[in-house]
Amino acid sequence: MDFLLFVCLLQLLFLGSSRVAAQSPARARALDAMLQDYAYRAFVRPHTGIVYNATLPPANLTGVSVSAVRLRSGSLRRKGFSDYFEFAVPTGVVVQPYVERVVLVYHNLGNWSDYYYPLAGYTYLSPVLGLLVYDAANLSAVGLQELSFVASGSPILINFINVRSVPVGSAAPRCVWFDLNGVPQFRDLEASNVCSTYRRGHFSIVVNSSEIAPGPVPSGNITPPIPTPGGPSKAKGSSKGWKIAVGVVGGVVALVLLGSLVVCLARYKRDKKLAVMERNAEAGETLRMAQVGRSQAPVALGTRTQPVIESEQFLKVVRFS
Ligand SMILES: *[C@@H]1O[C@H](CO)[C@@H](O)[C@H](O)[C@H]1NC(C)=O
Ligand SMILES: *[C@@H]1O[C@H](CO)[C@@H](O)[C@H](O)[C@H]1NC(C)=O
Ligand SMILES: *[C@@H]1O[C@H](CO)[C@@H](O)[C@H](O)[C@H]1NC(C)=O
Ligand SMILES: *[C@@H]1O[C@H](CO)[C@@H](O)[C@H](O)[C@H]1NC(C)=O
Ligand SMILES: *[C@@H]1O[C@H](CO)[C@@H](O)[C@H](O)[C@H]1NC(C)=O
Repeated sequence: MDFLLFVCLLQLLFLGSSRVAAQSPARARALDAMLQDYAYRAFVRPHTGIVYNATLPPANLTGVSVSAVRLRSGSLRRKGFSDYFEFAVPTGVVVQPYVERVVLVYHNLGNWSDYYYPLAGYTYLSPVLGLLVYDAANLSAVGLQELSFVASGSPILINFINVRSVPVGSAAPRCVWFDLNGVPQFRDLEASNVCSTYRRGHFSIVVNSSEIAPGPVPSGNITPPIPTPGGPSKAKGSSKGWKIAVGVVGGVVALVLLGSLVVCLARYKRDKKLAVMERNAEAGETLRMAQVGRSQAPVALGTRTQPVIESEQFLKVVRFS
C-alpha cells in the first residue's frame, strides 16, 4: 500500500542514481508535449468520436505513431471508448479536473521506446504505448497540462499486439506502468499480452534481462556522488577552506534532501488520494454523476446506507423533486 512512500525513501537514499534517472522523465515529458501539439494539429474540422492520426515530422520520430480522438467527458464516462488501438476504455472513467470535452491522445513509441523510457535490467517485449487526456477546449493550444483520470469501475485493458516471445529460460513477463514522473511500477499480466490500468501513463510488457546484462556492482563510497554547483575549490591545502567546502557540500545535500522530501510527500499525498478512489471503485462505491443544469458533475451518494441507484430515471426524479 505504501509503495510510493517506499519509492520516495529509496530515491532519497540513492540520490545519485535518481539524478541520472531524472534525465529520462524530462526527455519523455518533452516528447509528451511535442506529441500533444502534433495530435491537436490532426484535428482539422474535427468530428467528435472520430480517431485522427497525427502526422509527425519524418526527420526525428520515424517509428512513432500518435492519434487523437475528441469526446465529451460525459460520453466517455457513460459509454467508454472500447476500441482505441490497443486500449479498451470501459465505462466509468472519470476525468479530473472536470472539463466538458476531452482529447484522448494515443502514443505508440515504436523503436523509440528504449530511448524515452530506458529501463535498466529489463527488456521490452512490446513498444511503449501511452494514453493521455487533455482538455479539448482550445484545439490550437500548445503546452497543455495532462488531465488525470481514474477508471472508477473496471480497469482499462491494454491488449498488446505483436508482442515478442519471452526469451528461453527467463522469468515471466510483467506489465510496466510509467506515470508522468517516469517511475516504473510493475504488475502481473491480466491474461496473455493483456495489461490493465486505472490511470493515465505509458505501458509496456517487459521481461527481466538480468541474466543477459547484470547490474553494476554497488561500490562502498561514503559520500553520495553529488556534483556541487560551482563548488569553491580555491583553498586546497588549507584546512579552513576544506571546512568551508564540507559545510557548503553538506548544506547543498541537506537542501536537496529537504526539497526531495517535500516533493515526494506532495506526490505521495496526491497518489494516495487517487489510490483511495481506485479502492472505492473496486469496492463498488463508484462515483455517481448527476445532471446539474447542462453540465455534468460528480456527486457522492448522500449516505452510505442509501441503496445504489442504477437508473437514469431516478436521477431525473431527484433533479425535479
Ligand atoms: C490510423 O492509423 C492506423 C494504424 O496506425 C490505421 O489502422 C488507421 O486506418 C489510420 N486511420 C486513418 C484515418 O488514417
Ligand atoms: C525533432 O525536430 C523538431 C523540429 O523539426 C524539434 O523541434 C524537436 O526538438 C526534435 N525532436 C527531437 C526528439 O530531436
Ligand atoms: C527507428 O527506426 C527508424 C526507421 O524505421 C529510424 O530512422 C530511427 O532512427 C529508429 N530509431 C531508433 C531510436 O533507433
Ligand atoms: C531479475 O531476476 C534476478 C533473479 O533471477 C533478480 O536477482 C533480479 O533482482 C531481477 N532484476 C530485476 C531488475 O528485477
Ligand atoms: C488557444 O491557444 C492558442 C495557443 O496557445 C492561443 O494563441 C489562443 O489565444 C487560444 N485561444 C483561446 C480561445 O483561448
